Amino acid sequence: MCGIVAYVGPKDAAPILLEGLQRLEYRGYDSAGVVVSNKGLKMRKVKGRVADLAAVVPARFKGGLGIGHTRWATHGAPSDVNAHPHLSTDERIAVVHNGIIENADELRAKLEADGAVFLSETDTEVLSHLIARTVVEADSLEEAVRAALKRIVGTYGIAVIDAQRPGEVVVARNGSPIVLGIGEKEMFAASDVAALVRYTRQVVHLEDGELAVLKADGFSTFAGDARPTAKEPLTVDWDAGHYDTGGYEHYLLKEISEQPETVARTLRGRLDDRFHIAHLGGLNMDARETRSFRRVKIIGCGSAYYSGQIGAQLIEELARIPADAEPASEFRYRSPVVEPDTLYVAISQSGETYDTLAAVQELKRKGGRVLGIVNTVGSAIARECDGGVYLHAGPEVSVASTKAFTSTAVAFALLALHLGRVRDLSPADGRRICEGLRRLPGQIKEILALEPQIEELARKYADSPSMMFVGRVRGYPVAREGAQKLKEISYVHAEAYPASELKHGPLALIGPEMPTVAIVPDDELLDKNLTTLGEIRARGGRVLMVGHRTADPKLADDCVVVPRNETELDPILLSIPLQLLAYHAAVALGRDVDKPRNLAKSVTVE
Ligand code: F6R
Repeated sequence: MCGIVAYVGPKDAAPILLEGLQRLEYRGYDSAGVVVSNKGLKMRKVKGRVADLAAVVPARFKGGLGIGHTRWATHGAPSDVNAHPHLSTDERIAVVHNGIIENADELRAKLEADGAVFLSETDTEVLSHLIARTVVEADSLEEAVRAALKRIVGTYGIAVIDAQRPGEVVVARNGSPIVLGIGEKEMFAASDVAALVRYTRQVVHLEDGELAVLKADGFSTFAGDARPTAKEPLTVDWDAGHYDTGGYEHYLLKEISEQPETVARTLRGRLDDRFHIAHLGGLNMDARETRSFRRVKIIGCGSAYYSGQIGAQLIEELARIPADAEPASEFRYRSPVVEPDTLYVAISQSGETYDTLAAVQELKRKGGRVLGIVNTVGSAIARECDGGVYLHAGPEVSVASTKAFTSTAVAFALLALHLGRVRDLSPADGRRICEGLRRLPGQIKEILALEPQIEELARKYADSPSMMFVGRVRGYPVAREGAQKLKEISYVHAEAYPASELKHGPLALIGPEMPTVAIVPDDELLDKNLTTLGEIRARGGRVLMVGHRTADPKLADDCVVVPRNETELDPILLSIPLQLLAYHAAVALGRDVDKPRNLAKSVTVE
């Protein structure tokens, strides 16, 4: 997804912009560009990687004001000319933009009739021409930007500079994140803190509708109607080291391997061994309110949604409250009935997924009580929710979610324990769950030690044209997430089904060409699951079983045996080998593991 970096200060902007853009590479992009101001605007932009851009930026590219961009094509193919920044015809104004301008065609026709010459096919270019038209008469750049934005329908995060005002950058946000970075006599802005942490940890998040003016000695922020707004800087606890591969071949493997520590961080300070409860300080709900909910509805997208399915299961089992999960992208469009006695929980690693944010906003409009389970501190979804739980998993750089998925499931276990203990969950069961949660980091380490075996299995199965993933009840979301991981990074087609549904249709697909990954925990459904394996084998299907014991070779060709925890918590552990399986299948097939085709890290557009 597109990335923005901006700088104003005493240093040369170009190297800072290029470094920042490099830090945003993980989000996925197809072209990149920078512009700096020094007695006029100097611009370079290319289709390709940030390294290709750096190669064409000359050493004489001096100037302490500039903006940069990585583009992920929406309007117009990836090309040098469609890459951002976009200039006005008189080359006075430069704009970079994330988001989509829905009325771009209409505005473009009007601007062309008025003499503007468009060079690109992008929607963004209307902004540089619109601003150029108003800046001549406006008292300030911010006034010209505000006037232009009033004519825009759609979403944006933008950064704008004016050749005739060499000491300031104007940025604005509506639906696409912008975060300011406060330095020593210098200011930064970016679409993601990843681009800033090398230079500063003091940040300010803009709200939708806000605009900011950045000068070397500080910044001012304004609401849409030009009223000044007061902002409290936040200190981010992630540093540049979090964004390095740390000696691993891929971010994905680094993030899978980090899970013993990231899970420990999600749990830290939250388990109470005296009363066997969970302390979740950010929920902002007293015990009476916590008891008043009769249902829990969980929303999130993709892997976040699958972790929500594990969460719903945990809440039903431990708190005995009816709970279910639904894709936020569907929920927001179906005019959901919002009930006062339902607790809504929104999940997001990035905290910026547009569909999830829009669903939360819809819930808030209808008076719903919404908690967020979010990784990125201060992100839009975190700010929009009434309270919540931060994952503290550290930045997730690889496009495919792994450690955030696991930490979300752990955060749900804490929430379920909390809801359960203010209801009917006994102290003994509370203790059992607390102890189980404490065992998780060590057990994840044991699973990671199985990597050589899983790598071999991945090589064995990677050339299958298609794979089936099955699980029953607790195992079903595990199967769904396993299939999702495999397809998104290895591009091997994968289907996930409840094991119980197999004979109602998909069994027709089973044969030697379609192996099955079966999630078979040692729980009360073990016998039913083994029967399913028998049915698959009877049709010539190969089976890779992931469970707690080695199966009879008549039922499974291969087994990955993971340590057992409490039955309610087992799905968390059963998911880990499937991450390694997908990773090694993708490596075996030579895929771009950290940046799978067509995908972006955070989906900030509809
Ligand atoms: C899959 C994946 C996506 C995200 C989804 C939600 O590996 O990463 O399915 O889980 O786009 O993203 P967040 O959690 O940032 O809202």
